[in-house]
Amino acid sequence: MKIETDVVIIGSGVAALQAARILAPSFAVHIVTKADITHGSSYKAQGGIAAVTSEHDNTSLHIQDTLDAGEHHHAVDNVNSLVEQGKEAIAHLIQDHFQVDRNENGEISLGLEGAHRYPRIIHSGGDATGKALIDYLIEQLPKKVVIHQHELAYELLLNSLGECIGVKTMTDTDINTYFASYVILATGGAGALYASTSNCPDSYGDGIALAFLAGAKLADMEFVQFHPSLLYINGKARGLVSEAVRGAGGYFTDANGRKLMEGIHPLGDLAPRHITAYEMYKERAKGNEVYLDISNISEFNKKFPTITTLCEKHGINLSEGRIPIAPGSHFLMGGIVADAYGRTSIPRLLAVGEVACTGVHGANRLASNSLLEGITFGKLMAENLLKNGTKQKNDQIVYNHKKPKNYGLLSPSTLQKEMLAHAGILRDDEGLNTLIKALPTFEQLQSINFSQLTRAEIELYFMHITALLIANAALTRQESRGAHIRKDYPEKSNEWQNKWVVFENGKMNV
Ligand code: SIN
Repeated sequence: MKIETDVVIIGSGVAALQAARILAPSFAVHIVTKADITHGSSYKAQGGIAAVTSEHDNTSLHIQDTLDAGEHHHAVDNVNSLVEQGKEAIAHLIQDHFQVDRNENGEISLGLEGAHRYPRIIHSGGDATGKALIDYLIEQLPKKVVIHQHELAYELLLNSLGECIGVKTMTDTDINTYFASYVILATGGAGALYASTSNCPDSYGDGIALAFLAGAKLADMEFVQFHPSLLYINGKARGLVSEAVRGAGGYFTDANGRKLMEGIHPLGDLAPRHITAYEMYKERAKGNEVYLDISNISEFNKKFPTITTLCEKHGINLSEGRIPIAPGSHFLMGGIVADAYGRTSIPRLLAVGEVACTGVHGANRLASNSLLEGITFGKLMAENLLKNGTKQKNDQIVYNHKKPKNYGLLSPSTLQKEMLAHAGILRDDEGLNTLIKALPTFEQLQSINFSQLTRAEIELYFMHITALLIANAALTRQESRGAHIRKDYPEKSNEWQNKWVVFENGKMNV
């Protein structure tokens, strides 16, 4: 089927839905999502939305916390936009009747999470903020937005000017071609490249792979955030246990009750996420089990109903006061290079949310800045298109004449294990080179003709593309900064300060 429209949005998380509802009054909008509309990682977000709402707080402090947590590897102007425009965007959302949790006096109830010097986390339904926000945005979506579920985008279409003019997709039965004035990638992250993740099991970095294949500029792919506390039972991660639990008084222990964060960092259990995740990793690498002690949190089930249900489903008796945990991949700070309006290096291709790299998260994202990013940059991007967007009628596709050639790929589970072993929390030259040698080259991956492949084969290629980008970027950055920890370069280096590892023109550049 051939569809001509104004805007196609790939993905259905917070950034996608926020943009769609703002664009819809002026543009014809199609949302294409590879699963159910509520399936993405936004829906699973627990903690909340970081934003300044209290008179005791201010945006300078929020900006400083963002920069400190991300080890000062940021595009500072975009951080300022995120926090300052974000404050307004969240205020509008609440005025527009997005229901947030409040205390008995009717004031917004604010949670505390890692590396925030002040409680500023707005939440909804206790620990079901992502669900509440997605449900709200779906409800707000104008009826004229066309939603295509269970449809995988597999190729961006470019014209002879190098502009993006559409996208090819596949359903169980059909191949569809969308021609659009703008294509927006809002596909989220790539946590499912790792054997342990808080993300949806199919978060393979699809948008990053699509952008790579179309020749877009990518950056910061070495910065993969691991969350310190995923519920961990019988050798498998079962879901997130929010940092908000530590904000409410929970703390990490070993099996004997020894407090694991004592003496490690001034913020203790609420240290930046890469520090707590690394400590849990080291403890587990010694063969020890790690736990989140919740014994001093009153009414745990009321404050954290989602986590309570998750634990009960997996047979954890919360009255024992502790939850077995392990770190797992959680968020990709890098991605498609974009500005605060979502503009990428390819004209008419936009990227927003986790798939984009705007430099707002630096080397390690501050807790609960991701829903803020989706709401804020989804809004800024859509408002900019309303103001400056132009319609394009151009269905002259320039194909790359790719060869129908397949390359040997790892199975999904082998790739996930290899990624965890060699490109996970702790990396080194030897492991990264071993991983890279097991994957096809960039050149080989750029030459695949996807039109002859099944959906599962395409997704496997997407996984390999994103994995190769992460491994090469991690090999390139010869220092440890934020979530990128190198065994062979354990220190932060002045030489690497303000240097970005960028994938451009087929190779990694610094
Ligand atoms: C959490 O609730 O711990 C996760 C929030 C986030 O990823 O910022």
